[in-house]
Amino acid sequence: MALALATQPRRSVTILGATGSVGRSTLDLIARAPERYRVEALTAHSNADGLAAAARTHGARLAVVGDPACYRRLKEALAGSDVAVAAGSEGLAEAAARPADWVMAAIVGAAGLGPTLTAVRRGAMVALATKECLVCAGALLMAEVASSGAMLLPVDSEHNAIFQALRGEAAESIERLILTASGGPFRGHTLAEMAAVSPREAVAHPNWSMGAKISVDSATMMNKGLELIEAHHLFGLQQDQIEILVHPESIVHSMVAFRDGSVLAQLGQPDMRIPIAYTLGWPERISVPTPRLDLGRIARLTFEAPDPARFPALRLAEEALRQGGTAPTVLNAANEIAVGAFLAGRIGFLDIAALVEAALEACAGLQAESLDDILAVDALARRRTETLVADWSPSRAGTA
Ligand SMILES: NC(=O)c1ccc[n+]([C@@H]2O[C@H](COP(=O)([O-])OP(=O)(O)OC[C@H]3O[C@@H](n4cnc5c(N)ncnc54)[C@H](OP(=O)(O)O)[C@@H]3O)[C@@H](O)[C@H]2O)c1
Repeated sequence: MALALATQPRRSVTILGATGSVGRSTLDLIARAPERYRVEALTAHSNADGLAAAARTHGARLAVVGDPACYRRLKEALAGSDVAVAAGSEGLAEAAARPADWVMAAIVGAAGLGPTLTAVRRGAMVALATKECLVCAGALLMAEVASSGAMLLPVDSEHNAIFQALRGEAAESIERLILTASGGPFRGHTLAEMAAVSPREAVAHPNWSMGAKISVDSATMMNKGLELIEAHHLFGLQQDQIEILVHPESIVHSMVAFRDGSVLAQLGQPDMRIPIAYTLGWPERISVPTPRLDLGRIARLTFEAPDPARFPALRLAEEALRQGGTAPTVLNAANEIAVGAFLAGRIGFLDIAALVEAALEACAGLQAESLDDILAVDALARRRTETLVADWSPSRAGTA
């Protein structure tokens, strides 16, 4: 820590999605080292009170709510402070455009794409938690990273593990990546049991504490499918070079196999502050107050192949990546709508993957070249999935 203080100037940071699970973990780390970090901007969607409290505590210069209807509440909550206030997509763009050295992209879903691109285009150091950005517009985002000189630091624990294992390695020595998956709360469930699970059961992840959307994605294993697409773009590897392995203990966060037969893994407690800290301190390691890994106590680490029959979302993501074009954009949009419908009690758990599959069929063959095209496909896929949800007969996927 003393060495880090001596070598790194104070870093200005912006957090897109500051009121969420990743955002709050990031603020927790920042609060422990105020001499190292200064907060430029914080954003939320509608949690104006939570955002205002964080902005006051951390001395942010700007606070932004994405939902314009929440502007007034945020303004009132920050009355008398030095924090500037903004709202809407322009406000989010302003937060991302401000000259922070480091930006945490942690808005859930493709809604994070615009602000993330803004931060990338000004060449910032961008810690990327929002995997949906890479699923929705991976080729475009990576091209923007290359042309702007931005530094993309993976926050997802699996991709962060791979990023750590690849440090100093030549691209041609990589043989394959092994993405680990916890298997989620329904790893041992039969399809019939899964048909009856409630949103509350689906968000209760056995190892990780996360936001609702990613927790449901973990339960369907769509999360691992999204991460497969994310890894393909981040590390520039072909689909057949990326393997998925279920590892229920969530201790080995992922691995890289090299051409000499060596396999490097990163291990740690399932605490998002560890990968976040790796990006926040980059290129230095900073202290994280998490319980230390005690492998003697854990005693056993297990691995198994995923079951595509019980977790069809994984197969759908694999097919979308293989198909390319706009299929991953449609997959992501349809999944966001289907997960929202499940959380709202409108459809059953197994209907999520069934709806995504139906949406992929309904949106087959769409073309997209530019960002505007991609956003149009995303919007169309959402509308078509909404229509499918409205007409959905839950019995089609076996729900009661
Ligand atoms: N949680 C994890 O452990 C974890 C791990 C790896 C990757 N990730 C990824 O990180 C991202 C965030 O996950 P999370 O679990 O932190 O989510 P979360 O707890 O649901 O938080 C989402 C954040 O995004 C904001 N937001 C939601 N919709 C928005 C919109 N339309 N426009 C602008 N802001 C919006 C929310 O604001 P409000 O609070 O006002 O709604 C909140 O600040 C996801 O892409 C997820 O896949 C998360």
